[in-house]
Amino acid sequence: MNVPQPAARIGDSAWFTRDRFGLFVHWGIYALPARHEWVKSRERITDAAYQPYFDHFDPDLFDPTTWAADAKAAGMRYAVITTKHHDGFCLWDSKLTDYKATNTPAGLDLIREFVDAFRAAGLRVGFYHSLIDWHHPDFPSDMFHPRRDDPVYRAGNAERDMTRYAAYLHGQVRELLTDYGRVDVMWLDFSYGDRPSYEGLPGKGRNEWRSDELVAMVRQLQPGILLNNRAEVQGDFTTPEQYQPRGWVHVDGKPVMWEACQTLNGSWGYDRDNLDWKSPDLLVRMLVDSVSKGGNLLLNVGPTARGEFDPRARATLARIGEWTRLHSRSIYGATATEHVSPPDGRYTARGSRLYLHLFAWPFKHAHLSGLGGKIAYAQLLHDGSEIRVLDGGRDEGQANTSLRGISASDATLVLPVQRPDVLVPVVEIFLKE
Ligand code: GLC
Repeated sequence: MNVPQPAARIGDSAWFTRDRFGLFVHWGIYALPARHEWVKSRERITDAAYQPYFDHFDPDLFDPTTWAADAKAAGMRYAVITTKHHDGFCLWDSKLTDYKATNTPAGLDLIREFVDAFRAAGLRVGFYHSLIDWHHPDFPSDMFHPRRDDPVYRAGNAERDMTRYAAYLHGQVRELLTDYGRVDVMWLDFSYGDRPSYEGLPGKGRNEWRSDELVAMVRQLQPGILLNNRAEVQGDFTTPEQYQPRGWVHVDGKPVMWEACQTLNGSWGYDRDNLDWKSPDLLVRMLVDSVSKGGNLLLNVGPTARGEFDPRARATLARIGEWTRLHSRSIYGATATEHVSPPDGRYTARGSRLYLHLFAWPFKHAHLSGLGGKIAYAQLLHDGSEIRVLDGGRDEGQANTSLRGISASDATLVLPVQRPDVLVPVVEIFLKE
């Protein structure tokens, strides 16, 4: 294949570029206010005013076995969960803080439960861990900090010791990568050392996190782990957030391994009144679009404060699963191709097979540039029904069929007028070897 491939990275990537579709889980005590995981920053909430969410965190319906079953049925093959988000709340039983799930009414190491359930379901497990911490006393206020406009907190910055915070950060990552068996992905989030200061308060990045030492420790504790790119270190993969890239993602002019992370409704944490839900067919198109450009899709669910995926999220996952069940061959182990798909379509390729995903259903014909004489057989993927192919617009067996204006180098698929009733119809094309 002529599509440029990314250079090998340090972590194990074979599973990642095969499995393509993962679940992101953003869960924490921000599920109680239920108005975005950044609520503490956006509303400039003090620790005292945020405390009721800790005191009332009682996810009595938490059942990660159901989460894993939903993810698996959707066609997801790995899952990345927030161990700590920017508010500093820890979902596992960290020895380094009291600000953790075991001290809330939840009374459980939620990460342990999650890891056990997802592994039992055959899914790989990764950890999202926030570099930012709006609870730790040594974390100086900055442009995102909930106390950024509080002169008293700001005056206290002089006493805050970022080295102590970095030691805490590294210590917690060490716990996570030591106590939970094999972890497949480490998703550190995020750096903003390059942003303009806010009222004299600079951002934070590689120096503040001591990223070089942190990354060395991550690699040493979990040699196969895949590391993302948000500690101001390139890592193994790049993470476009809430947009679909135009083509295969490049860094410094070179193609890289990449994973788009996307929400169901624009928020990562459970956001009760946000109704901006993406439709299942849009989400399937986003998955297809990623794979057609050599990337993955990490699709987020923000569970409720009771510990469930809300019905809208569950229904969406189920609809996606109806599609992936029938179309797994065009996604898993598939990637970009040098062939140029017709308008409103996306190709993925796997070995000598091409998969044409039709985002809009044309009238009767799809013209495939450069494939004249190269197709051995074609069929609709969802039901395995034959699709006739006209080389150069001609069908020797059918005197009637000769399409004007089609060059000999093109092939034409003859499609039924009725669009198949699946979220995105796919034609599986067997190229001559
Ligand atoms: C971010 C946000 C955030 C979310 C994330 C996922 O940078 O701060 O809340 O966790 O990216 O990509």
